[in-house]
Amino acid sequence: MNQLFEEIEFVENLQYEQIIEDVISKKYSIVEDFFSAEEVLALRASLLEKHEEDRFKKAAIGNYTNEIILKSVRGDIILWIDELKSNTAEALFFKKINSLVSYLNKTCFLGILHKEFHYALYPTGTFYKRHIDTFQNDDRRKLSFVCYLNEDGWLPENGGELVLYLDENGQEVEKVIYPFPGRVVIFESQIIEHEVKPVNTERLSITGWLKTR
Ligand code: OGA
Ligand code: MN
Repeated sequence: MNQLFEEIEFVENLQYEQIIEDVISKKYSIVEDFFSAEEVLALRASLLEKHEEDRFKKAAIGNYTNEIILKSVRGDIILWIDELKSNTAEALFFKKINSLVSYLNKTCFLGILHKEFHYALYPTGTFYKRHIDTFQNDDRRKLSFVCYLNEDGWLPENGGELVLYLDENGQEVEKVIYPFPGRVVIFESQIIEHEVKPVNTERLSITGWLKTR
């Protein structure tokens, strides 16, 4: 495809523009309707089916060369999603992710070349202590992406809030985000410290990273 065609094909996407504006101005963005109710339903069913098949593993701290399982830090169980083996729901998921990535690369010169996503299930009583999403020996994670797959009617008293620790003119400010279904949170992996508060009921999500190089 030649240059002219690519330019004609570019269509401004207001939702993506909002994400970009948010991330530039405050390092994070919350999108309420990134996935439709049907897509959330399909992704939740997919997560639960794989969980039934006993395919989830205890999440680790650190990356592959530095793998320590530490329940006092995080208690979720996860399953990495292989795009090449996507089921219908996952294919829809990656279609949206890839569309966002190509938009970011066209408009922001972010140079997102890789991505990785996993399902996450937080059993009752579990949490993820305050942390940052980049590892000492892997700083390629650029943007963190979390999408909540809980059922409709998720209550604040269920716990499991995502708390972002923001810096506002040198003051630390806590941004509390409830894991409502369909909600997506995107934030700068290398900057934003965050935690998942203890959950009082099962909490479901897909978490992933858009990476450079
Ligand atoms: C993570 C994480 C946040 C969330 O998996 O690294 O911080 O809200 N998840 O699930
Ligand atoms: Mn994190």
